[in-house]
Amino acid sequence: MKHYTIAVVHGDGIGPEVCRAAVRVVEAALGTASPLVFREYDAGAQHYLETGESFPEASFEGCREADAILHGAGGLPGVVHPDGTEAGLDFTLRLRFELDLFANIRPIRLYDGVRSPLRDVKAGDIDYVILRENSEGLYAARGGGALLRGEVAIDPLVQTRHGVERIVRKAFELARQSEGAPRDGVRRVTCCDKANVLRSYAFFRSIFDRVAKDYPDIETEHALIDAMAMHLVMRPSHYNVIVTENMFGDILSDLAAATVGGMGMAPSAEVGAHNGFFQAAHGSAPDIAGKGIANPYGTVLSAASMLDWLGHGHSDERLTDAARRIRAAVETCIRDGLLSADIGGSAGTERITAALCEAVAGVSPGR
Ligand code: IPM
Ligand code: MN
Repeated sequence: MKHYTIAVVHGDGIGPEVCRAAVRVVEAALGTASPLVFREYDAGAQHYLETGESFPEASFEGCREADAILHGAGGLPGVVHPDGTEAGLDFTLRLRFELDLFANIRPIRLYDGVRSPLRDVKAGDIDYVILRENSEGLYAARGGGALLRGEVAIDPLVQTRHGVERIVRKAFELARQSEGAPRDGVRRVTCCDKANVLRSYAFFRSIFDRVAKDYPDIETEHALIDAMAMHLVMRPSHYNVIVTENMFGDILSDLAAATVGGMGMAPSAEVGAHNGFFQAAHGSAPDIAGKGIANPYGTVLSAASMLDWLGHGHSDERLTDAARRIRAAVETCIRDGLLSADIGGSAGTERITAALCEAVAGVSPGR
């Protein structure tokens, strides 16, 4: 029987707590015949403090060779390289660039039982996907920018035809697979850029318009990033799939997460042609680390995406079925009021995790 190796990196702050929670829920969903083999590797800010290395070569190799990578969260304030950038982020950024994880899929969904800070929205009203280009844009400058005479800092923004075309195609494919609910029966891809001011974004938009012709069944539109930030607050139910440049996607996905309860409710999947990397969109929240109150839902939902991605890639229904059950368990537990402090409740990580484990196995969760 086929087995899958999952490289697990716990990371910093609340990373280990939410990562262990996700592994437990995944194992509960797959049962005793689980085809997953978990291998743990070190990386992150704490590891850097202890060893001087943020991402050891053996960890990189383990991640590259694994069938998928699961991460808690990385980074600690003040643990920085001489240029001021954070050492704890090396893990995530190196995986993105070296494994060419070009598509960062960030589902934004308001669950029944979570209060949105937006007025008059209910579960189902917010259900879209931000597809963040993950291999170029402004982030491509990392480590390659310049500081001239200590006076002028330059980080170029890179858009390649190849890079834009593949992310835009991915957006249309996600819309076709109905990731994010079609709105009023319409599947829609929104291209979010700043084409009115910068050439690189005009280039992005021109490629979007050309690729769109190959998908006549999908409605398209353009939105400028500044207006988009407002639209996601004023009319979030309009959106289905939003495709955008790396840095814009980073910023927009935090704003979007806030509309559905905050960073604790924001899963993320970063995939390329060969590798998949799964972690919540949130940071390591060192202020609440070790207190047992971290919200595990974002990482649990990211792990469900991992099972979906593996399951589809290998035509293995055991995995896609487990993913479905995890999503259903999350829905049930949240509807039953199992909310962590960040989303207005008082349930701890352990209580939520135990309830999820019961629910995925088909037993109704306790309150
Ligand atoms: C994210 C994070 C990362 C980013 C960090 C951890 C490098 O904020 O995944 O959104 O800036 O992309
Ligand atoms: Mn971010």
